[in-house]
Amino acid sequence: MRRHPVNGRRVWVTGASSGIGRAVAVELVRRGATVIASARNESPLHHLVEQCGGDRLAAVPCDVSDPVANRRAASEIVGQFGGLDVAVLNAGTCEYVEVDRFDSAVFERTMRSNFLSMVYGIEAVLPLLRQSPAPHLVGMSSTVAYAGLPRAEAYGASKAAIRYLLESLRIDLYRLGITVSVVCPGFVRTPLTDRNDFPMPFRIEAEDAARRIVDGIEAGKAEIHFPKRFSLAFKLLTLLPTRLYLRLCARLVREP
Ligand SMILES: NC(=O)c1ccc[n+]([C@@H]2O[C@H](COP(=O)([O-])OP(=O)(O)OC[C@H]3O[C@@H](n4cnc5c(N)ncnc54)[C@H](OP(=O)(O)O)[C@@H]3O)[C@@H](O)[C@H]2O)c1
Repeated sequence: MRRHPVNGRRVWVTGASSGIGRAVAVELVRRGATVIASARNESPLHHLVEQCGGDRLAAVPCDVSDPVANRRAASEIVGQFGGLDVAVLNAGTCEYVEVDRFDSAVFERTMRSNFLSMVYGIEAVLPLLRQSPAPHLVGMSSTVAYAGLPRAEAYGASKAAIRYLLESLRIDLYRLGITVSVVCPGFVRTPLTDRNDFPMPFRIEAEDAARRIVDGIEAGKAEIHFPKRFSLAFKLLTLLPTRLYLRLCARLVREP
């Protein structure tokens, strides 16, 4: 069901220099959207402009962990495109916690890269979305937000915070007609997961993830989660008694 076609809409994608964000930007252009692509590294963004054509995709470099840079990017979008219809706030990083070297700095970095960056992005785009005839806010969480997983104390907390933030915002923005979607992927093959040293069941390609995300945006879905055999199984696991869940997850913990 395509209730909110992206064709002809102006879409900001953060974290568009690689992985899921890059693939989402390409998929959006393929479906007729005008895309503003952001990340810190400029050279992959310029390659993306070459690939998609400068009339359909513009690069606006931005460090999303800086609130001023987010507001500057929003002004540039208004200057170039007259406004914004959809924000896909996807940029993020992942760091794992080593419990024997528990370090608050990991949490500070991760919350800034993921959660606070999302907050800064929302602060920058809300005034623009309020002016759009078909506004949609899309934020990147993860299936890790559903329940605790080993070594994910910082990353999972940032993604759970994002999920909560977007679920609350959905209620507050309802009366303004702004659709809010939270994206919860399982494992997707990207530079971020290429660094993982553990098995990643049902890992899918970034292009596949992008198609599912844009399908979800066009369907106006509140939660876009995939692959279903992973995300639904994980949701079911969270219904288990705590002791059973703990016993299952404890098997995933590596010996030091
Ligand atoms: N891959 C998965 O399995 C998976 C699963 C669930 C959720 N996710 C989430 O999906 C999102 C994309 O991840 P990915 O797997 O595609 O990873 P990726 O290939 O490493 O891409 C991350 C993107 O975020 C950008 N970024 C990071 N920090 C930034 C900052 N401060 N300012 C601007 N851009 C920044 C990076 O660009 P620059 O370095 O050029 O700035 C890059 O474009 C993340 O939020 C991640 O947590 C991924």
